[in-house]
Amino acid sequence: MNKKIERINELKREKNGVILAHYYTEPEVQEVADYIGDSYFLSEKARELKEDVIVMCGVSFMGECVKILNPEKTVLLPDAEADCPMAHMASIEKIQEVKVNNEDVAVVCYVNSTAKLKSYSDVCVTSANALKIVKNLPNKNIFFIPDQHLGRYVATQVPEKNIILNDGCCPIHAKVTKEDILKLKELHPEAKVMVHPECQKEVVELADYIGSTSGIIKAVANSSDKEFIISTEDGILYELRLNNPDKKFYMPKEFQCKDMKKISLDKIIKAFETNEPQVRLTKDEIEKAYKPLEKMLELSK
Ligand code: 13P
Ligand code: SF4
Repeated sequence: MNKKIERINELKREKNGVILAHYYTEPEVQEVADYIGDSYFLSEKARELKEDVIVMCGVSFMGECVKILNPEKTVLLPDAEADCPMAHMASIEKIQEVKVNNEDVAVVCYVNSTAKLKSYSDVCVTSANALKIVKNLPNKNIFFIPDQHLGRYVATQVPEKNIILNDGCCPIHAKVTKEDILKLKELHPEAKVMVHPECQKEVVELADYIGSTSGIIKAVANSSDKEFIISTEDGILYELRLNNPDKKFYMPKEFQCKDMKKISLDKIIKAFETNEPQVRLTKDEIEKAYKPLEKMLELSK
């Protein structure tokens, strides 16, 4: 066995540790993870883990979610600089302004957000449960932060709500254009188009399937089709190829989140050895951000 993997397994036993990884991390990271998933799966899993040390291989909002949902544990984020730019693309001032100008408004916060933004929100959602949760909220007005594209997608699917959009977006998903997809479609006319809802409206409109990373993985597994255009981060290819050796996948242009790719085996080893970088939040920050996250887990059952 590879020396680094051996060392990680040894440290896991020694420290009573467990490794979580998002589908967008490097294949070598997914290989050593105990649990791999989308943001929703990882939040649910984080809450029930019994080990003393949880290593979250992903970006900082994911580390924060783990700490908020399981605060007694030591939570390590192997690269403290791995951050999701979209997590910062909303403001408390704007939330307050929308609340003043709209009666009966619920602030719905995509988990790709800082703990601070969560603490000013009524409920969190992920791309896997946003439709269900928004549909079932009692409020007519919804301020959806920070992702305008997921917010717009929810608005098209839940027309009975008045969805107020924020102008944040994932710079990686938003880069894909309608032309990128059409070009690939021309080369591979039989291929089904699988799109993450963080993509632009024009890309979502070309999709045969729209969903979270786990949703795309399940839809490909259940499909009798053999070719797929995958419009989400290329880390998903590891799981797709593992489960479907007979199927072909095409990516529209280079599709990599440089922050997710910051996590490496060396950084996981260093994190276990030094107990750093740890995710640290105050008791007050945890309590405030816990409520909307807990509500999400409740409402998506
Ligand atoms: P999901 O994990 O919900 O598919 O979200 C994708 C993402 O961008 C995570 O950063
Ligand atoms: Fe953030 Fe986009 Fe990277 Fe996901 S893929 S972590 S939304 S920048």
